[in-house]
Amino acid sequence: MATLSPNFLDELRSRTPIAAVIGRSVRLTKSGRESKGCCPFHGEKTPSFYVYDDHFHCYGCGEHGDVITFTMKSAGLSFMEAVETLAAEAGLEVPKASPQAAEAEQKRAGIAEVLEAAAVQYQKWLFAPEGKPALDYLRGRGLSEATIRKFGLGWSGEGRSQLANALARQGISTEQLVEAGLMKISDRGPVDMFFSRVMFPIADRRGTKISFGGRILGDGQPKYVNGPETPAFSKRRSLYGLNFAREAVRRGDPLIVVEGYMDVIALAQAGFGGAVAPLGTALTEDHLADIWRLSPDPVICFDSDAAGRRAAMRTVDLALSALAPDRSLKFLRLPEKEDPDSIIRREGALNFKARLDKAIPISEALFGMLAEGAAKDTPEARAVFYDRLVKTAARITDKPLAMEYKAVLLGRFFNDWRPRKKGKAEAGYKFNTSERREIKPHNSSVRRGYIILALLIQFPDLFSQFEEALFSITFAPPCLEMFRILQDFIKAGEVINNERFIQYLEGYRLEEKARQVIATAAADYRPSPDLSLSRASEDIWHFFYLMPDTIKSLEQQRDEARRLYLATP
Ligand code: UTP
Ligand code: MN
Repeated sequence: MATLSPNFLDELRSRTPIAAVIGRSVRLTKSGRESKGCCPFHGEKTPSFYVYDDHFHCYGCGEHGDVITFTMKSAGLSFMEAVETLAAEAGLEVPKASPQAAEAEQKRAGIAEVLEAAAVQYQKWLFAPEGKPALDYLRGRGLSEATIRKFGLGWSGEGRSQLANALARQGISTEQLVEAGLMKISDRGPVDMFFSRVMFPIADRRGTKISFGGRILGDGQPKYVNGPETPAFSKRRSLYGLNFAREAVRRGDPLIVVEGYMDVIALAQAGFGGAVAPLGTALTEDHLADIWRLSPDPVICFDSDAAGRRAAMRTVDLALSALAPDRSLKFLRLPEKEDPDSIIRREGALNFKARLDKAIPISEALFGMLAEGAAKDTPEARAVFYDRLVKTAARITDKPLAMEYKAVLLGRFFNDWRPRKKGKAEAGYKFNTSERREIKPHNSSVRRGYIILALLIQFPDLFSQFEEALFSITFAPPCLEMFRILQDFIKAGEVINNERFIQYLEGYRLEEKARQVIATAAADYRPSPDLSLSRASEDIWHFFYLMPDTIKSLEQQRDEARRLYLATP
């Protein structure tokens, strides 16, 4: 067998969707979540060949396998040849099987065996008389025996090389235990890494053991000890529960990122199998890549304390530049002093489901997170915050999405943060928040055009100020025509208001459209009768700068300036 790393093979499988590969040689029809067709490996007239997310199976002849097996069997290739063919198509480079890589792989396999033996031993002790306090502790936290067994929980024993003694009988040496992170070298020689603790095996996404975490019974410090970094275990890359969550998410469970071991386990027991947790570290880019591979909008549900909120903010910070229409996040904020484990125990699964359904998309959560603790009582403070919003949106590398975020964030700013004169709460254009504003890429720029038009009808004196800017960008069809008509109307010195404008457009058979434009604008932004001229002008500029074309042309100007600057000797 080849010495390719499992990570590379996973990457290859996820980049070569099996249905697409098989679909090239077999006519497949969709049947629910999977597709089916006539088996290419035995002659048949009625389809019994099924293609799932990650494998195929023929219920006629029993052939089955993943995308690599299919390529081997259908094209008569060796394993390496099939991998190379698929990798070339996916634009992936097959890593050279260096002697070092092969050695590291072997080391990991050796460690996995030692950890597996330790897990069996720990479990045995949990259910033996000496493990009774630990078993009672777990039961006291509401875990069923099935859950305890599913997650392979165990008891470490009291220390003093108990594990080494037990495993020596299986030919496992102290050295191997040190390498696997189960013992460490002290002044007194090798000692147990874990003692008097409930043991949580940590696995990689395929379920291979890579380390352990251990919890003290009851109170005491440190509450959890996690295994050290080893050739098999890297905290930055591992997520507790990923092996179970992977299956559950494929079955349709939501992917939920929580803080702790017990949160993952409590959620799984309550029927939310898609939970994962980082291992005492902040979420990393590697973690995000792993979870986005499973779900386009995982739910982040950290503890509700200050540390949990900071962790959520750090996650946003990390995710922002990578956000895309198929790589988003949702946030679920729990009541004060709760974590997912405690809330499930207090409220039950049904109530948690209701909370989960109300998880807030990052586009909505972002403003609140940025606003938390920000001063808003002076113009300077507001200017700083405004700048922060603009810069935050700009960090999203997906440009159309960045523009939408900018619009949503600034919309909230204008609505929530502009000071309103006492007794005149309605002054200015009010952002209509009665319904949740969702991000609708194309729609919203059209609507911004409507608002500009409606404002110009109300303030025709402003038209000359915007004339040049307006005709320099492309508005969607009805807007562009209406701007032209408005221009004529104003130049002719006519008195104008909504009714007259609609009347006038009858001549162009556009009166219906005009009515719709004005109504839509009024629904999005409620005009106030005492809106000042200067405020209206500011608002028009605001919307103008949010038009896609404006942003594009500003970007072009910036790029041009940069080019000139770089070209200057
Ligand atoms: P928590 O203290 O929030 O964990 O720490 P929890 O799961 O809610 O704990 P209990 O059992 O319900 O009281 C969250 C995670 O942070 C890491 C662990 O991975 C833990 O699951 N941690 C916490 C440590 O590594 N060391 C610690 O001392 C505490
Ligand atoms: Mn907890």
